[in-house]
Amino acid sequence: MADYAIDINHLTKNYGKLAAVDDVSLRVKQGISFGLLGPNGAGKTTTLKMMTTLIRPDSGRAVIAGYDVKQEPMKVRRHIGYVSENPSFYPRMTTIETLRYIGKLLDIPNKILEKRIDANLELVGLLEKKNNYVGEYSRGMRHRLSLAQALLSDPEVLFLDEPTLGLDPIGARDIRDLIVQLIQRNDVTIVMSSHTLPEVERICDEIAVFNHGKIIARDSVENLRHTVGGKNIEVRLVEKDERVLAAVKDLEFVNDVILANNRLLITYSGDKEVIPLILETIFGANRQILSFGPREISLEDILFRLLQDNED
Ligand SMILES: Nc1ncnc2c1ncn2[C@@H]1O[C@H](COP(=O)(O)OP(=O)(O)OP(=O)(O)O)[C@@H](O)[C@H]1O
Ligand SMILES: [Mg+2]
Repeated sequence: MADYAIDINHLTKNYGKLAAVDDVSLRVKQGISFGLLGPNGAGKTTTLKMMTTLIRPDSGRAVIAGYDVKQEPMKVRRHIGYVSENPSFYPRMTTIETLRYIGKLLDIPNKILEKRIDANLELVGLLEKKNNYVGEYSRGMRHRLSLAQALLSDPEVLFLDEPTLGLDPIGARDIRDLIVQLIQRNDVTIVMSSHTLPEVERICDEIAVFNHGKIIARDSVENLRHTVGGKNIEVRLVEKDERVLAAVKDLEFVNDVILANNRLLITYSGDKEVIPLILETIFGANRQILSFGPREISLEDILFRLLQDNED
């Protein structure tokens, strides 16, 4: 087994003048679950597609489960599974025909394949739909089938591109529970992109934040909370007021302020004594404070802050 499930160096993919993925390097250890975060168009799917051999990098190197995506793409495919952003299948194939077809493409011997098909269909709750046409499937069922398909190779690394996108809350929870089950059962490495932050917090040991094709931060959520987070208070005003933002920003012990609707998230340094000074300043600019209190920074706030700093 390779030391790293993912070992990519200076990976780049251009579309015309746009660097969709721009000189990205990333190492992910075996057996952990890793999240790719960042705004729409940041380069997550493009990176996933290069790691899963679906598109060829323009430059740089990606070694997945010990195999180079450019030199040994077939070997990479046999050691990974991939659930794409929008899983689609041949509508006129049945569930079992679909999985047999994919299994053949991966050269999985028949006996093993049949066993895995049954086990995986049972796992994702589609065993009863074995002989149904995939064309009849709802979005949630397609996602389940996609997961069953991705597990056919008994993957060392499982890539999931927004695995709960467009699912209802129950369907999303089912898929999340399945992912957590997989993590507990196997030593599979999970690499997933998601905009559903509580899901990322629940599943991922570490994350990388993408912006404009680059990785701008990489750590555990806990560490980021510490390094990016700092000490915080949250103040709610009756309504959004930019004057308050300007006044608070000017305070020397205030490191950062986020204004989202009527909510101010203020990060300060120094001890508690500065809190009354912050409140006095807010009061001076706007007399209508609804509430205030200490606040543990959320992953959303961390992301917001990282992206804001990156754009400055
Ligand atoms: N086939 C393509 N041709 C041209 N441009 C592309 C192509 N695929 C992706 N892009 C561009 O590359 C950039 C990165 O896209 P990508 O799909 O990797 O983003 P993403 O981080 O997955 O976003 P999202 O969160 O919306 O899924 C975007 O600007 C996108 O428009
Ligand atoms: Mg994407």
